[in-house]
This record gives sequence, structure tokens and C-alpha cells, in this order.
Amino acid sequence: MLSSRRSLLAGGAAMLAGTAAGGRAWAAEAEQPPGLNALAAPKGLFFGSALDDKQLTGDPAFLQRLGAECGMLVSEYSFKWETLQPEQGQFVFTRADALMDFAAANRMRVRGHTLIWHEGNPPWLEAALTPEGALAMMYGYIATVCGHFRGRLAHWDVVNEPLSPEDGQPFGLRATPWLRALGPGYIDLAFRAAAKADPASLRLINEFGLDYAIDWQETRRTALLKLLEALLARGVPVQGVGLQAHLDAAEKRLDQRVLSRFVADIAAMGLKIVVTELDVRDDGLPADIGVRDRAVADHARAWLDAVLPNPAVLGLLTWGLSDRRSWLNDRFPRKDHLPQRPLPLDTELRPTALFYAIAGALDAVPGR
Ligand code: XIL
Repeated sequence: MLSSRRSLLAGGAAMLAGTAAGGRAWAAEAEQPPGLNALAAPKGLFFGSALDDKQLTGDPAFLQRLGAECGMLVSEYSFKWETLQPEQGQFVFTRADALMDFAAANRMRVRGHTLIWHEGNPPWLEAALTPEGALAMMYGYIATVCGHFRGRLAHWDVVNEPLSPEDGQPFGLRATPWLRALGPGYIDLAFRAAAKADPASLRLINEFGLDYAIDWQETRRTALLKLLEALLARGVPVQGVGLQAHLDAAEKRLDQRVLSRFVADIAAMGLKIVVTELDVRDDGLPADIGVRDRAVADHARAWLDAVLPNPAVLGLLTWGLSDRRSWLNDRFPRKDHLPQRPLPLDTELRPTALFYAIAGALDAVPGR
């Protein structure tokens, strides 16, 4: 069950000291710890974060931290269908290109999120997804979008959140307009189209709700493994799995053995793993900031300790870098209306206990 192992750092006052990896030691209060990507790199991993486009301007202190911490960026909006093709027949790459320019100027890689999803779509799309029109729509979109970024993205989330076993569809698939129009083979088609248009970017299925030893998540894990097996058996060019890792600090049923076994099962198929959207909601916890921060950090540390050591894991990204902005405040607002504290930096851009939990988990990963 939840790891009883203490974090390397308790609160902001302790030290991440004397590691086997190189005897690094620094006092959190005395100096800025090294960036998370710099801690990840010697382990053959990367660290990155999601970014809201509005954060690309007007907040130089934030951008400076982003550059210091991240080796990879992903946009919360700019690579979604509603942004890239707001009107039928009209592609708009302005926002995505601005993020590409910022990343290039700061030597960061970028992941594409996402090509085929049941959310983040413009209103016109659903009407256009008829059995007759859907294939051309998908192929045209993927050819244009993957073609635009060809060779410049580290990863593409080719299909996002395809599972919803409670929908009663074949293979536990979610009942989406794509499934309705094209059947379960829509996933095959999307991956084949992406591989053709941009062979070099790693192609992933990105999914949530895979983290806990609870029945509905066990069902999702089993469905995902079966789906991957079937895709690979058909020669579909899927190359990895994105574990979103939207965690819940109040959830007690985190079983590290279940998690590491699941990750090993994915790796055994020859697939890569990326932790794509890590954050830890605290809306089930009391208001006290110290209590929340400790629980968030310990929870993430237990999850990361079970996942990161698998050599198939390439790296991790948090869904936002600083508590200045998190989707969780919109999606799961706390009943007391206090802002959540789900990310590695607080609103003042100071490292939170979660920052040190991530640093400690990276430090504990054996070198590859
Ligand atoms: C979320 C963004 O963070 C929000 O700002 C937006 O309104 C909706 O999408 N899983 C995903 C992400 O794959 O794309 C979602 O991002 C969060 C959950």
C-alpha cells in the first residue's frame, strides 16, 4: 500500500543530501535547487511541464523558471483540434508555432497533444463525422497537422483517452463520434496516418484513470493492456503509452506493486512509457497548507517510486509548473474555495514539497 518510506525532504527546510549518484547536496532554503530536468537527465530521463498559452507572455519570472526546470513542453490548448482547425477547412497554427518558437529558443523539446480525442474539438467537427466522411476527415487532418510539425515534435498523443469500459463498447472503448463513424479500427487508422505523415515523433496512446487499486481502474488497466496487445498484433504503429497521472492525494488505495506490475506489462510489449500530465489534487484534504503539501508530496513520491525505475519510462511532465495556474481549480474546485496546491512550484514560484518529492524520486532512479 501507500509507501511508508519518508521523502528525502520534509517540507521546505530539509536537505536533499549526499546521494550515491554524485554526492550532491543543497539546502532548499539557502540556494535554488538544480532544475528538475537537470536532475532527470543523468538518469536518462527528462522533466517537463504543460503550459497555458497565456503564460507565454507577460510573466517573465514564470518563463525564467520554466526554462530552468523543463526540458520538454506541452500545450494545454494549442495542439488540440479546436485550436488548429477552428473552422472546417481552415488551419491556424499561430499559437502552436509560438510555443514551438519559445521552446526552440530555450532548447526545450515539445510533445504534441493531441490528434484524436472526444474533447477539445470544434463544434462543427461532430456533425462532419459521418461514416462516409470520417475517414477523409481524419486522414486530412492528421496529414496536415503532422505534416506541419514533421520531425519537430518529440511525441504525439495520437489518440487520447480512448477507454471507457462502462460505455459497453467493444474492447472497453469509449463511445465517441470516431468510434460511431469508423468502428474500433479508428485507432489503427489514426496511428497509421500519423506514422505516414510524421514517422519520427514517438506515437502514444494517452490515458487517465490507471493509478489505483480500485475496481474501475483495474478494469481500465486490463482493457488498455488488451487493446495494446491487439494493436501490436495487427501491426499498428503504436510506440508508447502516456500515463496522465492525475492523482488524488486523498485516495488511499495506491498499491505500488500493482502499479509497477502494470508498467512492467506495458514495457514487456516493447512499448515506451511517458508520465504525461502529473498533478495531485488536494480537494479531499483539510485546508491546512502544511498538511496538504505533505500529503500531495508523499502521494506523488509513492506513485513515482513505483513507476520511474522501469527502464521503459522516458520521462515525466507535470500538468502545469506553478500553482499560479492549474486546471484542477476549474475542474475540481475545493469546497472551501481555497486554490489547490497540485504542482511543483507555488504561486510565488517557490519549490513546494512536491518539487522535492519529484527531485527525490528522480534521484532514487538507478542510472540507465
Ligand atoms: C485540459 C486543460 O488543462 C484545460 O485547460 C482545458 O479546458 C481542458 O483540457 N486530460 C488531458 C488534457 O488529456 O488535455 C486536459 O487538459 C486535462 C485532462
